[in-house]
Amino acid sequence: MPHFDFITIDIDRAVAALRAGGLVGLPTETVYGLAADASNDAAVDRIFSAKGRPRGHPLILHVADLDTAERCGVFSDVAHQLAERFRPGPMTLLVPRTSSVSDTVTGGRDSVGIRIPAHPVAAEVLRRHGGALAAPSANRFGEVSPTTAQHVVADLGGHLDPDLDLVLDGGPCTVGVESSIIDTTCSPVQLLRPGAVTADDLDTILASLAGPSGPSRAAGMMAAHYAPACAVHAVDHDGPLHSLVVDGVDVGAAHTRVLDLRDNHDVAARELYSHLRAADIDGIDAVVVLMPPATGLGAAIRDRVMKAAAGRQPPAD
Ligand code: TXA
Ligand code: MG
Repeated sequence: MPHFDFITIDIDRAVAALRAGGLVGLPTETVYGLAADASNDAAVDRIFSAKGRPRGHPLILHVADLDTAERCGVFSDVAHQLAERFRPGPMTLLVPRTSSVSDTVTGGRDSVGIRIPAHPVAAEVLRRHGGALAAPSANRFGEVSPTTAQHVVADLGGHLDPDLDLVLDGGPCTVGVESSIIDTTCSPVQLLRPGAVTADDLDTILASLAGPSGPSRAAGMMAAHYAPACAVHAVDHDGPLHSLVVDGVDVGAAHTRVLDLRDNHDVAARELYSHLRAADIDGIDAVVVLMPPATGLGAAIRDRVMKAAAGRQPPAD
């Protein structure tokens, strides 16, 4: 069956597919997720197969509202304040889980990641579904996240079941990088993965915040992740490119492309993954990324580019 047959804009079909144990490529404002009914272990297990993701890497739960979130996790005062301030939006809170959440979702951990996405299509699917949807980014494990329905089909079309699964097209993602992950189970609260809810945003609520240092507890914090097939060089460089060799990288070499992300953070984040994907499609050997400063959304862009620069992971188990 041709891949484009997976794509639909029919929300009722998507909700029916989820109820029937199918997987749905789900648009969110950050990146597309690969969603399954979180109460259906067999469906959740198929997410790991489709992605080639090692089982045990915990999945984020997506819910429509705080009431549903509180059936899945125990929200401390701080977690409540963060949820009230930044929901719906590009933020995932790690909280202690309740017994309603399956080990298949959390990889046996006692915490669970919960997100209330703002994308109107995701919000409507969640509202009609009523429960929680488990959804990692809808890419093959370790590779670049998808920001369009077409990216999802290109990555996962060959790993989905045309009789069960589909991809809901909600247009290109407006944020373009994954949600900020905030661990509220430790003190001080820790920003595990920077995103569009920035450290400055969090400062308005939190007395203190630990950065993503210390022992790595989120798989997205592995040194290598988000990687295209081509080489990625991250370069801090002010001003115009006077020379063809920047920080030892020959930016004028054949099959090398310069990606200047220094100016508009919103646009840079939104387009980053499409640019990395395009480099592979166009047969580019190396992308030289001119890095933004680490302020605001720049921190998330730098994080993803550094991980892309670390290259692809060895094949998953
Ligand atoms: O923007 C996003 O967050 C997207 C959209 C689809 O919501 N989702 C996403 O999921 O990026 P994923 O699975 O690709 O990345 C989530 C990261 C993974 O590195 C996972 O290991 C980590 O969050 N994570 C999830 N639950 C966790 C938990 N209980 N403890 C530690 N890390 C957790
Ligand atoms: Mg991911």
